[in-house]
Amino acid sequence: MTASQEQQEGEAFTKVSILGQETIIVGMNMTNYLVNDVIATVPASSYIVVTDRNIARFHLNPLVETLNAALDAKHKGEGTRPRVLSYVMPPGESAKTREIKAQIEDWVLFNKCTRDSCFLALGGGVIGDLIGYVAATFMRGVPVIQIPTTLLAMVDSSIGGKTAVDTPHGKNLIGAFHQPKRIFIDLHYLTTLPKREFVNGLGEVIKTAAIWVEEDFDLLENYPEKILALSNGVAGDPNSEEVQLLKRVILGSARVKAHVVTEDEKEGGLRGLLNFGHSIGHAIEAILSPEMLHGECVSIGMVREAEIARHLGYLNEVAVGRLTRCLQSYGLPVSLDDRIVLQRAPHKHCPVDQLLDIMRVDKKNQGDKKRIVMLAGIGRTYEPRASVVPDDVIRKILSPAVQIAPPTSPTTVNLKVPGSKSISNRALILAALGEGTCRIHGLLHSDDVQVMLDALQKLVGITFSWENNGETLVINGGGGRLKVPSKEIYLGNAGTASRFLTTVCALIPKPGAERKGAILTGNPRMKQRPIKPLVDALRENGVDVKYLENTGSLPLEITPKGTGLPGGTIKLSASISSQYVSSILISAPYAAQPVTLDLSGDHVISQPYIDMTIAMMASFGIKVTRIPGTNTYQIPQGVYRNPQNYNVEADASSATYPLAFAAITGSTVTVTNIGSDSLQGDAHFAVKVIEAMGGTVKQTETTTTVQGPAQLRPIPQIDMESMTDAFLTASVLAAVAVDKNGSGTTQITGIANQRVKECNRIAVMVEQLAKFGVSASELPDGIEIRGVDRCQLHAPEGGVKCYDDHRVAMSFSILACAMPAEQCAIIKEKKCVEKTWPGWWDTLQNSLQVNIIGVDLEDKVEEKGHETPVPDAGAHVSSHGAQTSCDDATIVLIGMRGAGKTHAGKAAAKAFGRRFIDMDTYLEESLQTTIPKFIAEKGWEEFRRQETLYLDEALTKVPRGAVIACGGGIVETEAARATLRKWSGADGSTRKGYVVHIKRDISEVSAYLDQDKTRPMYGEDMLKVWNRRKDWYKECSAHEFTIVHPSPDPNWSDVEGDLVRFLTFITTVNGPHNSRLPGAVPPPHTSSFFLSLTYPDVSEALPVLDRISEGADALELRVDLLASQDEEYVGKQVSLLRRHSELPIVFTVRTAGQAGKFPDDDHDRRLCLLEAGVRWGCEYVDLEVDGPLERVERLVQNKGNSWIVASYHDTTGTGLWEEEGHGSSLLGNQKGQQAVAVRFRDQYAKLHPYADVIKLIGRANRLEDNFALYKFVNSVVPSLGLSPKPLIAMNMGGIGQVSRALNTFLTPVTHPLLPNAAAPGQLSISQIYQLRSLLGLVPAKKFYLFGAPISQSVSPALHNAGFNALGLPYVYELSESPDWQHVRDVVKQGVANGSFGGASVTIPLKEDVITHGIVEEMTDGAKAIGAVNTLWVGANKKIIGDNTDWLGIKASIRKRLALVNAASATRTIGVVIGAGGTARAAIYALKSLNVDEVRVWNRTTAKAAALVEEFGGAVVTSLNQLFTVADASTLFIIVGTVPSSAQSEMDLSAALASSPKGILVEMAYRPRRTPLIQNVEKLGWPVVEGVEILREQGYEQFIRWTGRRAPWRVMEEAVEKAYV
Ligand SMILES: NC(=O)c1ccc[n+]([C@@H]2O[C@H](COP(=O)([O-])OP(=O)(O)OC[C@H]3O[C@@H](n4cnc5c(N)ncnc54)[C@H](O)[C@@H]3O)[C@@H](O)[C@H]2O)c1
Ligand SMILES: [Zn+2]
Repeated sequence: MTASQEQQEGEAFTKVSILGQETIIVGMNMTNYLVNDVIATVPASSYIVVTDRNIARFHLNPLVETLNAALDAKHKGEGTRPRVLSYVMPPGESAKTREIKAQIEDWVLFNKCTRDSCFLALGGGVIGDLIGYVAATFMRGVPVIQIPTTLLAMVDSSIGGKTAVDTPHGKNLIGAFHQPKRIFIDLHYLTTLPKREFVNGLGEVIKTAAIWVEEDFDLLENYPEKILALSNGVAGDPNSEEVQLLKRVILGSARVKAHVVTEDEKEGGLRGLLNFGHSIGHAIEAILSPEMLHGECVSIGMVREAEIARHLGYLNEVAVGRLTRCLQSYGLPVSLDDRIVLQRAPHKHCPVDQLLDIMRVDKKNQGDKKRIVMLAGIGRTYEPRASVVPDDVIRKILSPAVQIAPPTSPTTVNLKVPGSKSISNRALILAALGEGTCRIHGLLHSDDVQVMLDALQKLVGITFSWENNGETLVINGGGGRLKVPSKEIYLGNAGTASRFLTTVCALIPKPGAERKGAILTGNPRMKQRPIKPLVDALRENGVDVKYLENTGSLPLEITPKGTGLPGGTIKLSASISSQYVSSILISAPYAAQPVTLDLSGDHVISQPYIDMTIAMMASFGIKVTRIPGTNTYQIPQGVYRNPQNYNVEADASSATYPLAFAAITGSTVTVTNIGSDSLQGDAHFAVKVIEAMGGTVKQTETTTTVQGPAQLRPIPQIDMESMTDAFLTASVLAAVAVDKNGSGTTQITGIANQRVKECNRIAVMVEQLAKFGVSASELPDGIEIRGVDRCQLHAPEGGVKCYDDHRVAMSFSILACAMPAEQCAIIKEKKCVEKTWPGWWDTLQNSLQVNIIGVDLEDKVEEKGHETPVPDAGAHVSSHGAQTSCDDATIVLIGMRGAGKTHAGKAAAKAFGRRFIDMDTYLEESLQTTIPKFIAEKGWEEFRRQETLYLDEALTKVPRGAVIACGGGIVETEAARATLRKWSGADGSTRKGYVVHIKRDISEVSAYLDQDKTRPMYGEDMLKVWNRRKDWYKECSAHEFTIVHPSPDPNWSDVEGDLVRFLTFITTVNGPHNSRLPGAVPPPHTSSFFLSLTYPDVSEALPVLDRISEGADALELRVDLLASQDEEYVGKQVSLLRRHSELPIVFTVRTAGQAGKFPDDDHDRRLCLLEAGVRWGCEYVDLEVDGPLERVERLVQNKGNSWIVASYHDTTGTGLWEEEGHGSSLLGNQKGQQAVAVRFRDQYAKLHPYADVIKLIGRANRLEDNFALYKFVNSVVPSLGLSPKPLIAMNMGGIGQVSRALNTFLTPVTHPLLPNAAAPGQLSISQIYQLRSLLGLVPAKKFYLFGAPISQSVSPALHNAGFNALGLPYVYELSESPDWQHVRDVVKQGVANGSFGGASVTIPLKEDVITHGIVEEMTDGAKAIGAVNTLWVGANKKIIGDNTDWLGIKASIRKRLALVNAASATRTIGVVIGAGGTARAAIYALKSLNVDEVRVWNRTTAKAAALVEEFGGAVVTSLNQLFTVADASTLFIIVGTVPSSAQSEMDLSAALASSPKGILVEMAYRPRRTPLIQNVEKLGWPVVEGVEILREQGYEQFIRWTGRRAPWRVMEEAVEKAYV
């Protein structure tokens, strides 16, 4: 290239000045220019290019080669020339560390680079920051050239000279200012940037435009598709419109940043403006990263900060709307419940308190006042710096709910309401379809309208701009030239848009290039709302419309056939929604033939809206005629001619809220922009409703004033068909309307269509009014409300649930204003008002003077969850903990007669508080005859028909809260099977409930039925029946429960226990906030293990199962190692395991190729087995991702609550955890051999989409392989940029053992008692802990028993045995002293030096440790009992006190309930003997078991009375009356807390003479058989000895101290040995 060429090229690029020098150069394809410029301006002996692996793939070689060529040319014939070095580092934020910096420095030094070196940072912000910092300190500073390759780096990080690395303490904490010599912003790099990163950078671009450059914002707003083009794979000609646009907005941002950096020195705080969106955005990022990227969090932050500005009156609604829509059009999230956030960070939650907490430490704060950049309009800010904002305002905006306090006195106010939604929507469509420019004034700026505008931009290709501070929208119509958009159109819950646009889509003439048809979709509620009548009409007219999910609702695909809408006569049913009519009317002029729209034969709903559409079409030049006396309309062909100006009327439905406010509070409110002239039906609300209720109404043509009466009166009956949307407002007024006689009934009719709006509004009003204490009921086409005196209103418990419906929210906010003083109502989902009135809460507070504060109800729920201080330990205790919630959708049980459906159904109904329905009984009651009779009279076929009909009916009537047991033959007809498949989701649709196949060995069933002669015989061979039906049972159900037990009589209480656990598992709702793992496995941060069972049959393991599963958190069933892989056999094995162990099951079918026994290529059978694993409710299913992908995907899709462990085992030992070497070596190092070897990073990425847990197993040949694995886990995986998932990563083989010790999540383990280990090198839990403690990973700890006298205690034996069994380096010892000071000293010292692990506390110190402050935090149990027996060290080194005595009591009682057939008892009475400290724990335990009554006896009655006073219950003074009852089937549970020495004084023989039934728990444990035990045993009661309680409470302590389940078998043996 010649010098002049170069110069020319240079001129094509744009220069930006910063700090007085033009060092920023912007353009496309400027590598040549860059290289020559650098060589000329920064002479150096070494040019060091640093980049990361992602970028190197595309861009390193071209740069290095060009550099070399240029240097060759320049130094031709000189013998030596400067060098070019290149270094490739790992990508991602995790590489921005001091360690990597040091590695680079060492490498540069090794290469003998000197002071005259120059760094070229080729990369995103990570490379820029890191290499900038390397350059800043290398040889005290050498030049750096920034070559940003991400959009974020181009507009932000590369400019300004800030450099830094991260530390474990925080981001960017170590760094320096070091200005780059040059910044080359080359758009070419963006062509390879992943789309999400591109969009991430656009967040910053939009931010800068929003605060500084309105013109750029206009471009961003208008051309999202073009600006995104490079990231969508468009080649990118530098002169194309797309590239020019992109360059322009990048330049805009870069200029602002450069300007701000330059000016900031003079004008302090200016730089802070660039933090718009960041104050809140950073707080969100702190919680949501790494799942969410910086720019995405800032996007949400911007919207929220703009809303704050709106609330404070600096910014208008239009600007907030524009900002939101613009961000959305680039795929950026705009709120925390945006579907983008829910998809990317489904398990995370941002409580408001936490966000405020994080914001507290923002550098920009002024003292403790928070500062936020206040937008004052698009392109400007309120101050040239961030402004102080009070906390309560931030809280109000961030909170999902508001709390409303009723105003204390009436006010007088004038206000304007937002534009009409209906008119805004229509005006937008008409102008978009029309020809010419239209200025729309007074448009509503709401969610719905934004959705419409966005869709029209995609469909019709309009452009638009804003004038008059956003008050006016200027649309350039598309004249009806439509195209299929490249992406689906997402409409949220915007009903109007969905209806109107369906017909607009039908107008598209040709299929699109990227996709054939246009797709309209929406949120889940939208997918239920009806659209069928419209689709029917269009289909009949010849339009190709497909339902993509449920028939009758969105999503729809409309595929053009070349003609657009055919036209002619279109028949439509208009009885559900007038929007169908309007939809066809609006699009009709563009049809191929003139349209005659025929609504005859139907009752037409909401005529005013149809009239409105016709009137508006006329304003746009198309005149519709209605054939007089009919419901037939004729629409001529034509193109809308856009009027120059169009004024949108205010929204009459919205106006009802401030007017109702006046009516309900006695205020005077004038709405200044709507009056009697309005076209909208709801404009009559004031006159027809408020006046009729006693308010004073004055209406001019354009204004409406209401003055509220002292008392609202009911309206006996009112038809609101002409203003249906206003019925909710009327309902809340009616809620407090009563006449002089105290009666308050108001009936509203004509509103049936409100059942299919955003929610079923009639039902919702009835439900939510009840929460205020107002009763109402549904009428066929309306609602009846029975008003009350307002002093009887009470605060709705749990807040008003709005069902995402703006009208519900606004209506109840009005009712909240009528509540008695000092009562507050909470309205949840406050954001839903954005649909029609985004500023409603601002208006309520600022204009109507109502006091509003923000609340986050979810916070409160969360806090409650945290009150239990040992949530992890709790998870060990019970596999169905109280923290999970169950889906109450009805469960249907199917299966052979005699399999146990009825029994199981009743048990399940009882356990879950559901209703039980036996279909046979249900049928007989409905048919009014017996089944045999019915069959005899009408035949089998008719019976089956009725059976299906009634099943349908039952499911319709009780879709929730029931368990239904069906007859065995229900699967015989296709109709019934279809019903069942739909219910279970087995047909591929979203499941509606659950269908469980109850299965029992067919020979057992047969034996059972033979026994029972009362049942009619099958009439055919049962085996034949079973063989016919078994596939049907499978096809209809998603789950299967096998009852295993020797026939004829199963041990039902065991079966019930298994069933409850199974049903709990399958119905648990794993909401976004419930991150608990399936089964009882603790969350990944504590270490967990699963034991691999290697037996050919599980029954062989049963004798030792307790022992081998000591310390394990799950059991692996290695199906491939079983004697048979027959499905029936395997199913029984699962049931057997479930029966004998509480632990979750890992269901594994390991193939030969992956170190197992199952044939490698029998994918079908393997996947069938895995599917069965899911059906059986195995908590984990191991999946080797192999075989037909479709099957694999189906398995994952149908996994329900099971977790998929996606696994890969490399048995060859050649798999690579990490490429060898580092830095520049990578490029020269791609040896052939490495190309074929498996890379675990690739496997990780392959498994990731299917996995809940990823399992990667290699084989170690050398010790280094373990280090590579360690590095893989800690740096490679995070750098892959995939969402984090629990990972099991280990090396097989002896040398790999250390990797087993380092793996923390679900490490596979063996046990010495197992026949053989499942994999070479597998260790036991004890071995792993020993290894860990030798490696220094598990610090040694001491545990104590405090109290006196304690020398006889068996606790040391108990706990030390447990510690030993697990290999924990812990010791438990006696520390005898009656003084609390002693305890304090030992604990203090132990905490200080880190050796204190925990302690048991006994007499006489159980209360002292509380009163003297040794315990710093207490569990609920300990608090209630007022005594502590267990100490441990919690978070922040706080000493936590708990009481495990009550847990021991409770556990031992529960174990015996079945023995006394507790289920058959009508009443349960707890009897506590004694009233000391232990008695307190006893009462607490009894209460937790929900006994019906507690009786306390004590020698000194006063003490018993004091106890009862505190805990409730009754004092019984005479022993003889302790067991008197009214009902013979009462069950007693006695807890004796009196030492045996004192028991001689109490003789129970007389009291027990009536031989009641019961259980005795004896707390005294020496001697073993106390007088009390001897007394009670005579009655044959089950007895719990004191030692057992001692052990049980000890197991609980063990859990708290170690985070692990106690190995109870060895501990029990140790106690037995020590007890003399
Ligand atoms: N110094 C400052 O003033 C400043 C300002 C803002 C942000 N930052 C810092 O910037 C960093 C974030 O920067 P980032 O968003 O650019 O992230 P990044 O550097 O991690 O790049 C994002 C991803 O894109 C890949 N990539 C980059 N360019 C590519 C290309 N052209 N083609 C294909 N892949 C490409 C990278 O390998 C990486 O995986 C953070 O560390 C942040 O602290 C600094
Ligand atoms: Zn930023």
